[in-house]
Amino acid sequence: MSLLKRIESARPGAGPAGPGGPGLPSLPPTGAGGTPPATASQRLMTQAPVRESFRDVKFRIQSRVIQDLDPKLDLSNQVEVRRQIEEIFGKVIDEEGLALTRAERVRMLEQITDEIIGLGPLEPLLRDESISEVMVNGPRQVYIERSGKLELTNVVFQNDDHVMRIIDRIIAPIGRRVDESSPMVDARLTDGSRVNASPFTVDDLVRFGTATADMFDFMRACVEARLNIFVSGGTGSGKTTTLNVLSSFIPNDERIVTIEDAAELQLRQEHVVTLESRPPNIEGKGAVPIRELVRNSLRMRPDRIIVGECRSGEALDMLQAMNTGHDGSMSTGHANSPRDMLSRLETMVLMAGVDLPVRAIREQIASAVDLIVQQSRLKDGTRKIVNITEVQGMEGDVIVMQDVFVFEQTGIVEGKIQGRLKATGIRPKFVEKFEVMGIHLPPGLFGFSY
Ligand SMILES: Nc1ncnc2c1ncn2[C@@H]1O[C@H](COP(=O)(O)OP(=O)(O)OP(=O)(O)O)[C@@H](O)[C@H]1O
Ligand SMILES: [Mg+2]
Repeated sequence: MSLLKRIESARPGAGPAGPGGPGLPSLPPTGAGGTPPATASQRLMTQAPVRESFRDVKFRIQSRVIQDLDPKLDLSNQVEVRRQIEEIFGKVIDEEGLALTRAERVRMLEQITDEIIGLGPLEPLLRDESISEVMVNGPRQVYIERSGKLELTNVVFQNDDHVMRIIDRIIAPIGRRVDESSPMVDARLTDGSRVNASPFTVDDLVRFGTATADMFDFMRACVEARLNIFVSGGTGSGKTTTLNVLSSFIPNDERIVTIEDAAELQLRQEHVVTLESRPPNIEGKGAVPIRELVRNSLRMRPDRIIVGECRSGEALDMLQAMNTGHDGSMSTGHANSPRDMLSRLETMVLMAGVDLPVRAIREQIASAVDLIVQQSRLKDGTRKIVNITEVQGMEGDVIVMQDVFVFEQTGIVEGKIQGRLKATGIRPKFVEKFEVMGIHLPPGLFGFSY
């Protein structure tokens, strides 16, 4: 495919401009769909007596830059592409005799470059270090998250097509697609991040007040003692982030298999095998679900299995793995409390399609899961670990749990939630395991002695 074709499909305003929504500038012809590029005199006419808006001029210049780019240009050579864009841009501006201020010129070149080789209107957001998440709901509704709070930005796309073209650019390199029939996609950028944020460390999370250093010392001991852990929480509550930090506590000599929909975990250990699930192709074939990966992973003889998120039947395989020699395994799940996590697990096991009585499922859960770390995004936007809970076993038909750490809210001051993270003082049953394994925690540090 020629360079022009390749970038044509990524060009805003390709195709007829259409009536557009309110406030959407109608575009001058851009040469798409067989229309020849505007001649100098036609351009003069489109310039009209009224001064064109910055955006209109930009789209016009942009299509000329695209026309003039060398069709044999290697698009992966960003430096060269940038250099050419800048050169052609300068030439076109001079030819047209456009009176742009220096600042306008810089801004226009930047936006055109972003459009041609970047993620268009999203680029400035990705460059902004203070932004932790970008959510595109539609052409004129782009939200960001900054310091835990959602904000509506003034970023606008041309139209729905423009949004789709940019989204395609994000997901095409990883073989995913999004369309009317599968409108959801979970993806990451080419540098491996879902957003351009580096993973948080223990120190970061302590600084943010997500959990105390004591809580992390305790969780580190739990990971070293090979407890099976579920991180539970709502959407975007920070489950994956916490799972990543917990995984960092795994000793370097262990063999770890991670299983995810999109590789988000960033493990530093030497022996890590990363498996990614695959959605079905257009014919509905070739899907590799998480569940299949969990089963297959057992053949790789891992010491631990880390599943990014349990949503369905894979929970059963995960619990079985936890119960059969892969202790120290971890996963996350969507639930609003540790108790809720247990009942979600029950439901997920049923989704595996096996005919097990509820009691048997509960026993399986109770013996597999040792610890639930409950993550929450509080009303003021902060994220906290609100419970660290031991799963103790069964009493009758009920799974018995016991909080080891909790967040106790004391009030709200100027919209900020006040409270403290504290040990309940109750000694978890598995603490004996720590001793046996030679893991020593400072006595009294957790409000209990052992
Ligand atoms: N403890 C934290 N403090 C502040 N921000 C955090 C914290 N943990 C995660 N975040 C930010 O919150 C966003 C969501 O985090 P993460 O992906 O870990 O959540 P999640 O619960 O796994 O989300 P999902 O429901 O999409 O799986 C990210 O932008 C991340 O950087
Ligand atoms: Mg997650």
